[in-house]
Amino acid sequence: MTEMSQNIAQLKTELSSMIEAANDLESLEQVKVTALGKKGRITDLMKTLGQMDPEERKTTGQALNVLKDEIAALINAQEEALKKQALDQKLATETIDVTLSARPEREGHIHPISQTMEELMTIFADMGFTVAEGPEIEDDWHNFTALNFPPGHPAREMQDTFFLPEDAEEQGERAKKLLRTHTSSVQIRYMTEQKPPMRIIVMGRTYRSDYDMTHTPMFHQIEGLVIDENTNMAHLKGCLRDFCETYFEVENLPMRFRPSFFPFTEPSAEVDIGCSREGGGLKIGAGDDWLEILGCGMVHPNVLKNCGIDPDKYQGFAFGMGIERIAMLKYGIPDLRTFFESDKRWLDHYGFSPLDRPNRAFGD
Ligand code: DAH
Repeated sequence: MTEMSQNIAQLKTELSSMIEAANDLESLEQVKVTALGKKGRITDLMKTLGQMDPEERKTTGQALNVLKDEIAALINAQEEALKKQALDQKLATETIDVTLSARPEREGHIHPISQTMEELMTIFADMGFTVAEGPEIEDDWHNFTALNFPPGHPAREMQDTFFLPEDAEEQGERAKKLLRTHTSSVQIRYMTEQKPPMRIIVMGRTYRSDYDMTHTPMFHQIEGLVIDENTNMAHLKGCLRDFCETYFEVENLPMRFRPSFFPFTEPSAEVDIGCSREGGGLKIGAGDDWLEILGCGMVHPNVLKNCGIDPDKYQGFAFGMGIERIAMLKYGIPDLRTFFESDKRWLDHYGFSPLDRPNRAFGD
């Protein structure tokens, strides 16, 4: 063995053990520089090639290239191993123990509107309703005309409705944009797009220019719509009775259906539930006072026609409620405006634990 090949073999042993000993990425980088860098050990040896005779230069050159490749491969392998080790370590120290109990002292709160919407969804889903949605920016046709509002109806007036600039790309009533004043507009969207039978609820934001203890310019409504061949007023009453008893958690809740008027229903009714206001507190389901909670009725034949549904074949009922209002009644919240003030003290008081389950239908 020539002296050179001995040197090469020795260097290989030396560098290999340095690589093996490098136990973090930083020291491995050091070894890499020592071995392969511009002023590194292998490069140093390469530099001696110039002084060799051609035969020796050839064999030594080859041997040095082999060494270089071997050392580079060892460094790569060590680098991979170190990276894996670092990742394993990170995974081991960052594990989340999902079996640990919750930390109530660090809990955020669910807003009463979100909680109430969750409850509504649960109750109506149990009755076979699905959820439909529609846009908050509506047009005059979906919000009023298709719902059988006559041209001069007061609800169309400027002081109630937030009108938006006309949409230049649309024509007539569809160009007149507004913030929807009720979720009833989604009845129209759904009936023009789907075929009966239908059984839906719609929940979402609605807008009216109004502000006092019981009105805010933005509020939430839930709308219900059921269309089938034989749906009648008794179905409407049964459905709303089941809903009210489940939502307010009062069995045999006193309820009355009072004749009323809405352009889009005929006949129309408003529903009151029994309550007592004795001693300043409000108690639902007891006493001899009444509290109005929703509007409802049989869908007007004109509305069905406007949506391309044959009123001689299909009929159905609809209802609409303010979500804040029924949340205020159930949870004893006195002022509607506070819902949207983002006061953390209010949320801590009226908010719900994320771990609470919304109430279920009786018997579940
Ligand atoms: N859209 C009505 C409102 O905002 C509520 C309503 C009443 C909806 C009767 C209905 C209904 O679907 O049948 O005051």
